[in-house]
Amino acid sequence: MAAERNILITGGAGFIGSHVVRLFVKKYPNYRIINLDKLTYAGNLANLTDIENEKNYKFIKGDIVDSEFISKLFIDESIDAVIHLAAESHVDRSISNPIEFVMTNVVGTANLLNAARHQWKTPSEKNMFYHVSTDEVYGTLGETGFFTEETSYDPHSPYSASKAGSDHLVRAYHDTFKLPVVISNCSNNYGSFQFPEKLIPLSIHNIKNNKPIPIYGKGENIRDWLFVEDHATAIDVIFHKAKTGVTYNIGGHNEWKNIDLIHLLCSIMDRKLNRESGSCAKLITYVKDRAGHDMRYAIDSSKLQRELGWKPSLQFEEGLEKTVDWYLANDTWLNNVTSGEYLHFYDQQYVRR
Ligand code: NAD
Ligand code: TYD
Repeated sequence: MAAERNILITGGAGFIGSHVVRLFVKKYPNYRIINLDKLTYAGNLANLTDIENEKNYKFIKGDIVDSEFISKLFIDESIDAVIHLAAESHVDRSISNPIEFVMTNVVGTANLLNAARHQWKTPSEKNMFYHVSTDEVYGTLGETGFFTEETSYDPHSPYSASKAGSDHLVRAYHDTFKLPVVISNCSNNYGSFQFPEKLIPLSIHNIKNNKPIPIYGKGENIRDWLFVEDHATAIDVIFHKAKTGVTYNIGGHNEWKNIDLIHLLCSIMDRKLNRESGSCAKLITYVKDRAGHDMRYAIDSSKLQRELGWKPSLQFEEGLEKTVDWYLANDTWLNNVTSGEYLHFYDQQYVRR
């Protein structure tokens, strides 16, 4: 039987992408899910071993920056919808290597848009280009207020600027070529399979190994955290219900000062590792601040909750505990991703500056 829809998910071997691929492969047996990923340091097929043999799943290794390859892929696989997550995603890496971010996040997105435009000359109901983006495009907030879908773009890091550029291109293809598109801008994600360069998994990994927990500046920056599986369900709802051309913010109204979050994590890990109360917090080490460090992110996701009925399923304390349990139970995964390139990154980022 022919598939109802051939859906290209880019970056499906990464952190969020692997959760989206898993959800779609399991929930929609009549869709054919094609996971396209370059398998950079952040992409890992070990994130998908539980679904890799499913009949409706196919993995293709490739680079979204290669325009010829992308155009051929759309034709060969009869792609009729895209969920685009492939990106360089770590702010600190964008400070040391901005051009890589421009290539993947801007040029790569333009290549996908172009291929979709040529493939869907007269778009049908099946066609949708879903661009997964970040709240970081909106810049930084003071002590009050929230990012809404109407907030002006004001990115500060090469990462957020490259994502902002890609969002603008997606809207331009909608306005100019009538490409059916939808965009979502989500807050910071946490959960299983996140590469341990980002705050939460890096801290879990370091605490486990009795290494310092590096806190940038005074630890007063605020982020709004969402459990990754809740992001995946939001993407599912938006993909199926959103009108073309619309943007949704995704977030869980869950703001934490970095230092408070790390204290909560330390108390969970004292308990999980049977350490004396207060011992993990002794690993907290203040380090030089990140250049251009945004002070506060906070998302207003009421439009998504009101119009499409999505809401997050977990409280942060519960989600963080689940995340710690996952990292402690998945030693092999953690050891594999923290060998090789990771050691080089860690040395550059935290020792030599
Ligand atoms: P990630 O770094 O874990 O994964 C990115 C994936 O993209 C990897 O599998 C990598 O191999 C792949 N990739 C990178 N360059 C590629 C290329 N040129 N061609 C093909 N594949 C390539 O990132 P993530 O945290 O899962 O983020 C996924 C998306 O969600 C990104 O677009 C990011 O901007 C967005 N986002 C992330 C967060 C967050 O908190 N992590 C929040 C909001 C939005
Ligand atoms: P991160 O997880 O890199 O996400 P983003 O920069 O996209 O928000 O960082 C989250 C917050 O934690 C941010 O304010 C920077 C801070 N941070 C540290 O204090 N120490 C670290 O080692 C890292 C990686 C981040």
